Amino acid sequence: MIRMSAIVRHGMILALIAVVAAAVLIAIGLFPVSARLGHLPGVGWLLHTTYQRSVDFWSAGIDPPPLDDPALVQLGAAHFESGCRACHGAPGIPNGALAAAMLPPPPHITHAIKGWDDAELYWIVREGVKMSGMPHWPAVARDDEPWALVAFLRRVPRIRGTEYIRLAQAPAGRVAELGAIGRVANCARCHGMDGVPPMPGVVPRIDGLSAAYLAQTLRAYAARRRDSGIMAVQAVGLSETEIAALARYYAAAPVAAMTVAAPTKPALVEQGRRIALGVSARRLPVCAACHGPGTRPKSPLFPVLAGQPQVYLARQLHFFRARNRGGTSHVTLMFPIARQLEDEDIDALAAYYASLRRGG
Ligand code: HEC
Ligand code: HEC
Ligand code: HEC
Repeated sequence: MIRMSAIVRHGMILALIAVVAAAVLIAIGLFPVSARLGHLPGVGWLLHTTYQRSVDFWSAGIDPPPLDDPALVQLGAAHFESGCRACHGAPGIPNGALAAAMLPPPPHITHAIKGWDDAELYWIVREGVKMSGMPHWPAVARDDEPWALVAFLRRVPRIRGTEYIRLAQAPAGRVAELGAIGRVANCARCHGMDGVPPMPGVVPRIDGLSAAYLAQTLRAYAARRRDSGIMAVQAVGLSETEIAALARYYAAAPVAAMTVAAPTKPALVEQGRRIALGVSARRLPVCAACHGPGTRPKSPLFPVLAGQPQVYLARQLHFFRARNRGGTSHVTLMFPIARQLEDEDIDALAAYYASLRRGG
């Protein structure tokens, strides 16, 4: 009994000395945080093992949606180019010199994906990794967006030759040729330009929206009033001059000739048409009064909806209903309107507006 308590006492004294020594080391500033020196023996292993176990644990229960949609893969690639390539390189493109000087150095993307399943990759992209330089998804409320990255990451092992360039940089192979127009060429990778259609299915069309709506929307993304990690990366850092130039360009851009997919569910489209035009039995706000078709918008801040992707429209309506979307100075008009919509109204309205030809 007496021996045990002596051991415990000595142990406690030693632990106290260690804590005081560590505190003094930190207080004086003696601990070397230099990335050049690397980690002390065992620390790298400890951090990496903690990280791997943590991802395993916290990603349990995440259920991946279908990720085979080529449009989702392409959107993931285009965002990867803006938001990830600087650190992780890209298929066929090595890591940058600065990335190699980080501690830990971000692995090249072909290695970074090894050993992780879809849910784990999603978790890493959404949450980021503390004390490593791996950022979390820039829009914390947008749990949907990182899936586009996972769709792309799954494709990485099968990407050959110049396929990455095609996916990430050059819709219709025209960006190099259009490069002189600077920023617009960057936006064109996703939104198209000058007759080049935007990425189908997942990215909204911005040609033909008013300059006022475009400029206010870009400012809302940059200020994080409108939440999107994909657009935050593009909009933060644009100068007012650039915003004005981009808004002018896209407002005046010829409406891209684009075939509108034949509606798969004509009955749903008809149901949406009746609500939008105010001729349905459901007594809902008449969308067409502000968004067309058939009327000129009364305010430049009422965006055209014709030809927007169905998935995009439905998602925005869900955000409005949850009062979860920022935007222009007029955005709150949509909150009481969306509150009256049931899920099936949203599906029908999205199907209807997606089926309309823009500019027609
Ligand atoms: C500022 C640099 C930086 C950026 C930008 C960045 N990452 Fe990372 N990433 C890292 C670092 C550093 C790690 C290593 C974490 C570790 O091993 O402790 C990492 C880890 C990862 C991993 C897991 C790799 C592994 O082997 O454990 C994946 C997957 C990943 N990043 C994907 C992405 C994607 C997708 C993006 C863009 C949305 C991105 N990263 C943006 C620095 C970055
Ligand atoms: C990596 C692909 C990508 C790039 C590059 C990109 N965007 Fe976007 N953009 C998107 C996506 C995805 C959305 C939908 C975001 C959301 O859910 O709010 C969007 C939304 C928008 C909207 C809102 C449209 C609406 O109907 O409300 C505008 C305006 C816009 N982008 C302008 C730009 C401009 C200008 C640039 C270039 C500086 C640009 N985007 C670059 C993918 C991209
Ligand atoms: C009183 C005018 C008005 C009415 C009526 C109206 N809206 Fe809106 N709607 C707006 C405004 C203003 C915005 C722009 C919000 C912003 O600032 O981002 C908008 C935005 C939208 C958007 C997002 C568009 C984009 O490009 O991101 C959708 C989708 C939408 N409305 C659908 C509807 C539907 C469906 C109805 C009918 C049930 C409807 N709206 C009725 C004013 C209206």
